[in-house]
Amino acid sequence: MASNELRNSLHDFIRGLPKAELHLHIEGSLEPELMFALAQRNGVTLPYASVDEVRAAYNFSDLQSFLDLYYAGAAVLQSEQDFYDLTRAYVQRALADNVRHVELFFDPQTHSVRGIVLRTVFAGIARALREARAENGLSSAMILCFLRHLTEEEAFATLAAALPLREEYADLWLGVGLDSGEVGNPPEKFARVFARARELGFHLVAHAGEEGPPAYIQNALDALGVERIDHGVRAEEDTMLMQRLAQSRTPLTVCPLSNLKLRVVQDLREHNLARLLRSGLCVTINSDDPAYFGGYINSNFIASADALQLTREELVHMARNSIVASFAPEVRKQACLQELQDYVLAH
Ligand code: HPA
Ligand code: ZN
Repeated sequence: MASNELRNSLHDFIRGLPKAELHLHIEGSLEPELMFALAQRNGVTLPYASVDEVRAAYNFSDLQSFLDLYYAGAAVLQSEQDFYDLTRAYVQRALADNVRHVELFFDPQTHSVRGIVLRTVFAGIARALREARAENGLSSAMILCFLRHLTEEEAFATLAAALPLREEYADLWLGVGLDSGEVGNPPEKFARVFARARELGFHLVAHAGEEGPPAYIQNALDALGVERIDHGVRAEEDTMLMQRLAQSRTPLTVCPLSNLKLRVVQDLREHNLARLLRSGLCVTINSDDPAYFGGYINSNFIASADALQLTREELVHMARNSIVASFAPEVRKQACLQELQDYVLAH
């Protein structure tokens, strides 16, 4: 086969690959078209005249320059129906990309500052996820993230406000995470609230080593006790940490197009995803904030495969990692792994 045909067939292989998405901020899946529709529905005035103008503004220099727009865009989300529409739109994209299990992040504090009650956020997201489970067999979980630029006291208040909803959403709300501006907000700032969440039986994850140094990854493991690291690409700067991550098989939820858009790397060909994988780390591929970063999970797989010459085996390996690294019940993991194995044998 000519190299173009080979590449096309690898892309098709990726599209059909059963996979899990473990790093997806639901607010970051807000496409400009929906942003405009919700702004109109809710009487919110956006600082843009058109959808094209919104897209043109998505030119970021770093994480903070993105977060400023991301928090501004989230202001159109107000009612339960808005959160449902947002999540439903993501679910459609995920199903089209053959995502079989998703664990999505949501940021209650982004909405509570606008007076949105937590139940509204939970209810809208959960309705769409439960529907997708019943209608499409897509399994899912919700991970409540604390905004790290705010105080630990505010994180405790958010946890306290959410706990009365735990029983009602016990099938979905499985974990807590940590996101927003990383540098200057190290993991240890949230050690006590993570200890409390652990006592309560939640799974724990945190963003670390996206823009922050390897020490933040170390401390996410040691001070917070997280089970997965979101991003983690700067681990490569510390040989001992690399060994530790390889040995413990701590999953990294890597987001290549996000790293490119936020200039963590200048060119995807420089991305260390393949090196991390080839060093024995449990690497997964995810989309982070796909409406802002130019692609959903399959686009991330395809762009990485092309830029880094990933082999079919490596792509399968990362799809397998995503299932193994998930918080899905063991029976669900086994079913997804079986589906993956059948797919690989048939293709
Ligand atoms: N990093 C930190 N916080 C975030 C991100 C991210 O990539 N996306 C949404 N909130
Ligand atoms: Zn993220």
